[in-house]
Amino acid sequence: MTATSLRFSPLEFASFGVLTELEAASDEAAVAAFLDGAEGICSELHAAGGLMVVRGLSGLRHAPEALVRISKIFGPEVENYRGTLTAARFFHDQVPEVLVLSNLPPCNHLPPPRPAPVLDPEGEFPVGFPQRSNWHTDQSYRRPPPDITLLFGVTNPPADQGQTLYADCTAALGALAPELRAKIEGLMGLHAPSWIGRRPEDVRAGVTPKPLLAHQQPQPQPLVRRHPVTGRPALYICEEDQMDHLEGPIAGLEPGPDGEGARLLRALLAHATQRRFVYVHEWQEGDLVIGDNRCLLHAATWYDADIHPRLMWRTTVRGNPGAEYDGEAKSWIPADGHAPMEGMEDA
Ligand SMILES: [Fe+2]
Repeated sequence: MTATSLRFSPLEFASFGVLTELEAASDEAAVAAFLDGAEGICSELHAAGGLMVVRGLSGLRHAPEALVRISKIFGPEVENYRGTLTAARFFHDQVPEVLVLSNLPPCNHLPPPRPAPVLDPEGEFPVGFPQRSNWHTDQSYRRPPPDITLLFGVTNPPADQGQTLYADCTAALGALAPELRAKIEGLMGLHAPSWIGRRPEDVRAGVTPKPLLAHQQPQPQPLVRRHPVTGRPALYICEEDQMDHLEGPIAGLEPGPDGEGARLLRALLAHATQRRFVYVHEWQEGDLVIGDNRCLLHAATWYDADIHPRLMWRTTVRGNPGAEYDGEAKSWIPADGHAPMEGMEDA
C-alpha cells in the first residue's frame, strides 16, 4: 500500500488561502488521512485566512456521507437541512446534511447573470462589486450565523465558467481608511434573505413587505466581527440582496436603498472585493473548497446553464460564532405550530 501524504502550500494567484494536496492508495484512505490530520488542517485553514482548497478527495463523489464526516472536523454541528425549513429538492435524498446546488432538476438552481460588460475596464475577468454581483456570506440572516461552508464540485462547468470567488475580509478591514474604520466599529448590519421583499429593487418598486413570523425576521450582525479562533477582526457584510433595505441596511443610519446606510454598504462592498483581496477558484474535477464565513465573502459566477450541467454539494458547519452570540437560541427555528410561508423556503 502506498503511504498517504498531506501537503500544504500557499494558494497561487491569491494573497490568502492554502492548497492541501492529498495522496493515498484509495478513496477511503484519502478520507481517513484527512480525518487523521484534522488538527493540522484546521490550523492551516485559520493561518491562511480561512480559505482552503483540497485536491485528492475526488472519491467523495461516491460517498456524500464522508463529506459530512470531513465537515465535522471544522465544528460541532453540521446542519441537517431536513430540519431547517429547506425544500426537499435542495438537499441530498440520502444525506440531508448535503445541500445540492445544481441547474439540473429537481433543484433547478441557476447561476447569477453574466456581468455586463463581460470584462472590466482593464480587460480582465471582473471580480469587484458592483460589476460582479452575488457577493455574500452564507446564511447571514440567521443568528448565530454559520462558521464554515464546504463546497464539493461533483460536476463542474468547463474552464473559465462557474468560478467561485472569495474575498479576504480580514485584509479588507485592515486596509480601510482609519476614519472609515472608526465609523463602522460598533455598527450593525441588518441581514435578510432575498425572498422576503426587502431587496433594494423590492423597496424601490414599493413591494408590500411580507408579514414575518419571529423566525423570519431580519437579523442584526456587527459590521466588524472578531474571529473567535484567530482573534482577528474582519468586515462582515453581504451584498444588497441579502440585507434589509426597508429598515436598514445599517441600523442607526438613514434606511432605504438610497440612504446613508446603503451608500456605506456599497462603498464597503466595492472596497472588500477589489482584485487585491480576491481569489478566483477555477473548479477542477473533485475539488473541495473550505471557506470561513466569519472572515470571507464569496460569490458564484455565471456559467452557461443551458448547455452545461453543474452539481455542487455544500455542507454548513456551525457552533463557534464568537462570544457575542453566547447563549443565543437559533433565530430561524419556528415556534411550535409555525411553518414557513409559501415561497419562503431557504435557498
Ligand atoms: Fe454561498
